[in-house]
Amino acid sequence: MKSTVVIALPGDEPLAEALSESLGGIVAMLEYRRFPDGESYLRIHDSLDDSSVVIVARLARPDPKIPALMFAADLVRDLGAARVGLVAPYLPYMRQDARFKPGEALTSASFARWISSHFDWLVTVDPHLHRYESLDEIYTIPSAVIPAAPALADWILTNVQRPVVIGPDAESTQWVEAVATHAGLPWRVMRKQRFGDHDVRIAAPDLSGLEQRTAVLVDDIVSSGTTLARAAEALIEAGLGPPQCVAVHGLFGKDSRNTLAAAGIGKVVCTDSVDVAEGVIQVAPLFAPAVLSMIEGNMTQGDAPGR
Ligand code: R5P
Repeated sequence: MKSTVVIALPGDEPLAEALSESLGGIVAMLEYRRFPDGESYLRIHDSLDDSSVVIVARLARPDPKIPALMFAADLVRDLGAARVGLVAPYLPYMRQDARFKPGEALTSASFARWISSHFDWLVTVDPHLHRYESLDEIYTIPSAVIPAAPALADWILTNVQRPVVIGPDAESTQWVEAVATHAGLPWRVMRKQRFGDHDVRIAAPDLSGLEQRTAVLVDDIVSSGTTLARAAEALIEAGLGPPQCVAVHGLFGKDSRNTLAAAGIGKVVCTDSVDVAEGVIQVAPLFAPAVLSMIEGNMTQGDAPGR
């Protein structure tokens, strides 16, 4: 193979530049625009002959981005790329991981089938693995999961005095334990019941001995903000001050910031896996080793690091 070429979906050029610097590759520009009828126009001016192409795409709010991703993956192969990998700091559609009602689309599996048929490998940050234990259950290409925990832990240690790390629900244990272990901090997990998108009840765990600490709520996703809001209220009621919130992926749905503020949450920080103002923790430096393994290592499904 001749070279490594990194290509960004529109808006993700800074991430592609940062990744390509770490990889020693070049960035090729994807010209993307819409025709007057709304259909997509794409053009790549650089030669891709026999190259290893890495497409970087932040896929929060994915539906408007999927045509560009689909056409770009096809285009780079048309232009001679030998292999095409996807770096998706936020992997969408992972939360529809079961058919909760008869007839519902299992979009996690459909999306995985589509990605697996267009790309040779996938690198992502902390996908929402809840009912699936591993991406291998639905993705048939090699994939590597980059944990954000060390970066979150470093941010907490630098910015919060005497923290205690708290997860809002049992699913968050995986992230909370990893962050607390990396930072050498105490941790607890709350109990959550979800009755609907905006209807969540959360109970505080035993917090005795931790009253003088600053609660840091850690979760993988902020979407409606309901989980963090109810968790913050329960912590305040239990005698702790308003918590600092740290999340991997800040999706911030409509009204979520108001929901968070109304619960007494002053500040939320996230990684830049999603393009939001709160995304202050950079993920690009975390990717390079896994991407290099994918490019050089000819990983097969199940071999990839960090699964
Ligand atoms: C739950 O499964 C996740 O780990 C998050 O707690 C959840 O997705 C957050 O969503 P929301 O902000 O809508 O409560």
